[in-house]
This record gives sequence, C-alpha cells and structure tokens, in this order.
Amino acid sequence: MRLSILLVVILALNSCITGEKTEVVVEKGDTVRGELSLDSKIFLGNRLFSEKTCITCHDIDKNKIGPSVIDIMNIYKDKNGSIVSFLKGKSEPIVDTTASNVAIMQDNIDGFLKEISDEELDAIATYMMHVTELKKL
Ligand code: HEC
Repeated sequence: MRLSILLVVILALNSCITGEKTEVVVEKGDTVRGELSLDSKIFLGNRLFSEKTCITCHDIDKNKIGPSVIDIMNIYKDKNGSIVSFLKGKSEPIVDTTASNVAIMQDNIDGFLKEISDEELDAIATYMMHVTELKKL
C-alpha cells in the first residue's frame, strides 16, 4: 500500500517535471463477496440438489439409481472423504465401487458437473453433510 502511494507521488512529481500527463491506472481487484452463512449454503445446496438433477438418482434415505444421501454421507464422514473433490473428479469413489455404477456417476463428473461452480459444489456438499439434521426438523 505504502509502496503504491510512493509510486503515485513519484509519477506525479515526474509529470510535473517533464510536463507530461501521466495516467495513473488504479487496478481494482475482483469484488469479493462475503462467504455464505452455513444456513444459506444448506438452503442453496438443497435447491441445487434438485435443480442439477442429483435428486433423480439420489433419494435422501432410500437407494434409487445411486446410493441414498444418508448412505453416502455415513461413508464420507466415516472415511473423512471430500464430496467436492469427488465431484470434481479428483478423488476415487468410496461408496459404491461396482464398475457399472461408478461409470454412471463418472459420466456426470465428465459431463454436466463441469458446469457447476466451486461455490455451488461446496453448497451441495454442505447440504449433503447436514441432510440428517434437516430430516429431524
Ligand atoms: C444418472 C444418475 C445420477 C445422477 C444424476 C447423479 N448421480 Fe451421484 N451417483 C450415481 C451412482 C449410480 C452412484 C454410485 C457409484 C459411485 O459411488 O461412484 C453415485 C454416487 C455418488 C456419490 C458417492 C461417490 C463415491 O464416493 O462412491 C456422490 C457424492 C454423488 N453421487 C453425488 C451426486 C451429486 C451431488 C449429483 C448431482 C450434481 C449426482 N450425484 C447426480 C448416479 C447419479
């Protein structure tokens, strides 16, 4: 910060001496949005879980085409796995390792999941993590 002020002063002085106009370009960083609260993340994740079609294969508490969210989370919590890392294709499946089922989910990872932002993936994972608490409400 101090360095940039010094730079501006030097540039200003320089332009006085030479009589040239010096344009000072102030670079603005990306606007940083505040981190979502836990409740907002769960709310957003819940919505995305339907909107992004996860719900068509994953029921909350019953196995459908894929394992239930509760079964997935029991294993992820037990093994300290990262849902986000799995959804980004950076970690191996640990819930259902049957080749044909892995292939179904892998298709999603290689396909539509690439369009989902990190922030949204984080919200989905947070929702999945808290799904049992929601059921008690
Ligand atoms: C077309 C059906 C289908 C859709 C849509 C689908 N899944 Fe899956 N998913 C599966 C199947 C089948 C498995 C079991 C194979 C496996 O565990 O990798 C699975 C497994 C998983 C697992 C456990 C991976 C592991 O470690 O074994 C997670 C987490 C998961 N899905 C999250 C999601 C999320 C989040 C979405 C939505 C963005 C989604 N799935 C959409 C079929 C689907």
